[in-house]
Amino acid sequence: MCITGVLFSVRYIVTKIIISKVKQLTAKTTKRKDCITVLLQPTDGISMNSSAQKNLENLPWVEKYRPQTLDDVYGQADVVNTIRKFLESGRLPHLLFYGPPGTGKTSAIIALAREIYGKNYSNMVLELNASDDRGIDVVRNQIKDFASTRQIFSKGFKLIILDEADAMTNAAQNALRRIIERYTKNTRFCILANYAHKLTPALLSRCTRFRFQPLPREAIEHRIANVLVQEKLKLAPRAQDALISLSRGDMRRVLNVLQACKASIDKPDEEITDDLIYDCCGAPRPQDLETILDSILKDDWTTAHYTLQKVRSAKGLALIDLIEGIVSILQNYELNSESTRIQLLTGLGDIEYAISRGGSEKVQCSAVVGVVKSSFEQETAKIHS
Ligand SMILES: Nc1ncnc2c1ncn2[C@@H]1O[C@H](COP(=O)(O)OP(=O)(O)OP(=O)(O)O)[C@@H](O)[C@H]1O
Ligand SMILES: [Mg+2]
Repeated sequence: MCITGVLFSVRYIVTKIIISKVKQLTAKTTKRKDCITVLLQPTDGISMNSSAQKNLENLPWVEKYRPQTLDDVYGQADVVNTIRKFLESGRLPHLLFYGPPGTGKTSAIIALAREIYGKNYSNMVLELNASDDRGIDVVRNQIKDFASTRQIFSKGFKLIILDEADAMTNAAQNALRRIIERYTKNTRFCILANYAHKLTPALLSRCTRFRFQPLPREAIEHRIANVLVQEKLKLAPRAQDALISLSRGDMRRVLNVLQACKASIDKPDEEITDDLIYDCCGAPRPQDLETILDSILKDDWTTAHYTLQKVRSAKGLALIDLIEGIVSILQNYELNSESTRIQLLTGLGDIEYAISRGGSEKVQCSAVVGVVKSSFEQETAKIHS
């Protein structure tokens, strides 16, 4: 009886010690997690201590201004509203987000996961992107392990985010099919890709698809306005137009160019001009493109070729950027015959392909002059005949 009493009291003391240790540990972890959460809140300047603020200052703007909630994801209202409805009804399907770069796919799924799990994020979410190995072994081991284990104290499903999934091997995608079906009870998959056609049809049919479109002009303007206020920057109206048209709906590009512009202005209150935007993008200015086109249309071959080379080397432009600029200007030209436009665009398309396959820029420069000149000569001949 006495021995049992002693045993009980020893057990009681040991249990007390363990409980107090666990409490200490939990307090430490929670503190650490809180720190991380504060670091991830760029707009919440008041609650940030100075070192957190300093860390934010050093971040690239794409991270500093990454949307923290689904409401911060601009220009994708249809997608965001539908996902919210799924969430409210508690019936989140497997998701596939696809679309061009810099449109908010990764940001949206991370914001969604943060809204669902809050501080539990790291336990409940497995994030894999192109920098991780994602061959068949990872699907068989890491993904399967994560999907098949249950969290003791957490209710609901876990989330597996497969970013840049179009870079996964076909074998890995095939292995994923069965895992998606088998663990649907406690796991949801979100597959992110630029091109849906690079995913296997079987994988596509298991997910609800959402296309992220290039950000519309108003959405980019709205976001730029926020950033300008926070960074205390001034942007000339023509510079904003140039930035929006050069970004082609890619918000990452907008933020990178703005950050480069801020770094290159001398005084903090200096206005960012359109010239600076073109310089930071390495894109040709519209007036340079007009000079080149004008010379090709009016001058002889040698002068036109010389003008093209001169502008190209003076401004350090890549021929591929010049071709893109010329195509967008030619699209607004009024032509009498549709066949001229077809000939022009096919010719320039062939040159672009040749450059991407490693063709010599010198030879392709002559080809640009040749294609534009011959197409317009044919147009003139047709008018006179
Ligand atoms: N819809 C958006 N609303 C607000 N900011 C955005 C949006 N889309 C992109 N951004 C900004 O661009 C950055 C990059 O976005 P994100 O990583 O989500 O793009 P993505 O669509 O995943 O691109 P990729 O296909 O290259 O992976 C974000 O940090 C954010 O600052
Ligand atoms: Mg992404």
